[in-house]
Amino acid sequence: MKIQIINGPNLNLLGVREKSIYGNTGFETYLEQLHSLYPALEIDYYQSNIEGEIINKLHQIGFSYDGVVLNAGAYTHTSIAIADAIVAINTPVVEVHISNVYKREEFRHTSMLAASCKGVIAGFGMDSYRLAIESLLIVN
Ligand code: DQA
Repeated sequence: MKIQIINGPNLNLLGVREKSIYGNTGFETYLEQLHSLYPALEIDYYQSNIEGEIINKLHQIGFSYDGVVLNAGAYTHTSIAIADAIVAINTPVVEVHISNVYKREEFRHTSMLAASCKGVIAGFGMDSYRLAIESLLIVN
């Protein structure tokens, strides 16, 4: 089973950026934990700060992978183009957020992507990514 994790803008700074919200762990370190938790899964990771590159990655893997875990960062709240890409591909996408966006500023309460995704997981810190993988393992 092949899972693609995609992180959007500013998530390259995890472990450095706003630690009180996003924690102390860089994503590469967390990814090692995911790989050891799920040795049977192929878990690939991609990060981009650029909207079009996120769309290109969805197009590239979205007809062959079994699931996408997408934290589109602030593009979650703005990007109809990413929503269209999610609809265009065959692979199910789970929207994730490290923080509980519903406890934060009102502009973070709207997701342009959620309606096009299999589901949404938010507010569990880095564990949101693991929970998203678990949700993709559920056959339905
Ligand atoms: C985020 C929440 C977004 O509102 C924010 O713009 C991010 C990170 C999260 O993981 O909590 O960059 O997606």
